[in-house]
Amino acid sequence: MTLKIPQFEWLDLGNSRAYAEWRTAKMAAARAVRDLAPVAIDDLANPSEAARDALIERCELVNYAVYDSPPVPQDNPATAARLRRFAQAFALKIAESHRSAGDYGIVALSPSDQPGKRGYIPYSTRGMNWHTDGYYNPPDQRISAFVLHCVRAAPVGGVNQLLDPELLYIRLRDHHLDWLRALLHPQAMSIPENREADGTLRPVSVGPVFYPDPETGRMQMRYTARTRSIDWRNDPDTRAAEAFLRDYLARGDPLATDLHLAPGQGVLNNNVLHNRTPFEPGRNGDSRLIYRVRFHNRVKRRPEWQNSAT
Ligand SMILES: [Fe+2]
Repeated sequence: MTLKIPQFEWLDLGNSRAYAEWRTAKMAAARAVRDLAPVAIDDLANPSEAARDALIERCELVNYAVYDSPPVPQDNPATAARLRRFAQAFALKIAESHRSAGDYGIVALSPSDQPGKRGYIPYSTRGMNWHTDGYYNPPDQRISAFVLHCVRAAPVGGVNQLLDPELLYIRLRDHHLDWLRALLHPQAMSIPENREADGTLRPVSVGPVFYPDPETGRMQMRYTARTRSIDWRNDPDTRAAEAFLRDYLARGDPLATDLHLAPGQGVLNNNVLHNRTPFEPGRNGDSRLIYRVRFHNRVKRRPEWQNSAT
């Protein structure tokens, strides 16, 4: 591809010429990448240089990249190891602390009645509303990227939709600049403290909705469309912005991407907005199974990384 996104000071709300140039490039990239076939990967643990280049390019353009690797027939621990190795190709630092993360920092998302999982929507067949991952985390534990990797697909449903947060920024900036300004406020959105299933207390999380990644300055988003256990800053522009986002996402963005992940397929991304439709559980314990691995940094090139086969 020959597309390139120009440098853009997204916190500078006064530079309309730079914004217009960046906006044009982002819209073109969104349309182009949405129509591309997934990046083919022969060996998940050793993606080729061409595959790595394609994945990184797409993440730089639109913050996500879909890949297609050979499926494995069962829930196999080796797949988790291979997924971890895949993450290393992009210099990603795995967030190990999630209570359900296994040996490789990888969470197996599948319907479950186990203590600590029962009652939590990710471990059910229910739909999930729009969010970014880790929106309730403290600032030093923020999630900047994650991978969803499909081991088993649902017979019906279980579709993920993705939306680049930079596109939502464009929708908001075009609609009402003061509302965007409100969501940049450092106290825009608070998640109250919560007692977790394992007894630990998660502290209150206060922060902006759009914030700069400390390493790169690129835009990150901290968001949930849920309406319970969330405190929005009590000012008219924040309230209006929050209502606009929830309504806009519910109606759907024409440039959102529908992901029907098949076994072996996955999405590498810079913590884009996503949701999930409900799904049918399948029979004989072969429900939809998605490996999820989260990272504290964004996808980037790792020049020293070598294929283990070479
Ligand atoms: Fe999520």
